Amino acid sequence: MAKHTIVLVPGDGIGPEVTAAARRVMEAAGLQADWVELPAGASAVAEGYDDVLPQRTLAAIQAHKVALKGPVTTPVGKGFQSVNVQLRKKLNLYAAVRPVRNVPGVKTRFDGVDIVVVRENTEGLYSGIENEVTPGVVTSLKVATAVACDRIARYAFRYATRRHRKKITVFHKANIMKLTDGMFLNAARRVHEDEYPNIEYEEMIIDAGCMKLVQDPTRFDVLLMENLYGDLISDLCAGLVGGLGVVPGSNIGEDSAVFEAVHGSAPDIAGKDAANPLAVLMSGVMMLYHLHEDAVADRVRNAYEGVLTDGQVVTRDLGGTAGTKAFADAVIARL
Ligand code: NAI
Repeated sequence: MAKHTIVLVPGDGIGPEVTAAARRVMEAAGLQADWVELPAGASAVAEGYDDVLPQRTLAAIQAHKVALKGPVTTPVGKGFQSVNVQLRKKLNLYAAVRPVRNVPGVKTRFDGVDIVVVRENTEGLYSGIENEVTPGVVTSLKVATAVACDRIARYAFRYATRRHRKKITVFHKANIMKLTDGMFLNAARRVHEDEYPNIEYEEMIIDAGCMKLVQDPTRFDVLLMENLYGDLISDLCAGLVGGLGVVPGSNIGEDSAVFEAVHGSAPDIAGKDAANPLAVLMSGVMMLYHLHEDAVADRVRNAYEGVLTDGQVVTRDLGGTAGTKAFADAVIARL
């Protein structure tokens, strides 16, 4: 087995607990890796770095091309620019991929949910271009470029083809944002018609899409959308299958990839051994497939599915009492 170098960014809040648990499980499953642990977020500033995304951390991800990242706390309305937004822009991690599936043993309103949210990760309202026109009047600029719209559309269709997915649904608001969402929509249409006519394609205005998602999520397959919509819809979809503790994610670029859960740093439960490490572990499994460590990935996946199916060791977010460490221990015991 090849030895990998993986940058581990523990992050803030519950980040250090859940990333440590995920690392422990992957190592127990046989992953051979050198881990380069580096800070980001409020904890980086607390350690004396002058930015929430230290240059050292960025450079390490650029050099090693793969990172497992915990969530970071982003100050609201002031202070530093979000680590996540910086990372995605600086590393050009243009595609956020978030698979949302029912997990064994977690009863929710719907069975058979199997959705992949593909989110454009570099522009839209996350351009961070805001302006005070005059006191009392502020604006925020939504950016869409033909290059980024085309790139994410191609990514989604390529992903759907490789994973034997049947349908792509684009959520948009091009009826109102005719230029920006219109450009996004046109790119998806063009890629569908010219390159992937065999994949079923549909378009939905996002408000109606939200209603349909909560009425019957099983009618959806791959969802493609711009940045802000993808952020919101990812959490909505997480809610359909048991919450933020069970949904993994990845941020994919041409050169590097950063794997992280959808959830945040959960300051309300940080440091209490109360967080579910599963979402980060599942993100780790996505990372293992990305590194072509399929056997280790399968082993980890079978082990956590076994624990969830048994229903003996259940974390608090899913109605049980098990802590972060106890859940990781149970997964290791099943390997
Ligand atoms: P959050 O995801 O941290 O928490 C929302 C709710 O879900 C809380 O009740 C929390 O306890 C619970 N929760 C989240 N993850 C959990 C887990 N693994 N196990 C059990 N329960 C879990 O979202 P919130 O409160 O909106 O944001 C807190 C901070 O996290 C903010 O500073 C925000 O900017 C940041 N954030 C960072 C992200 C990242 O770095 N990728 C993503 C989302 C938010």
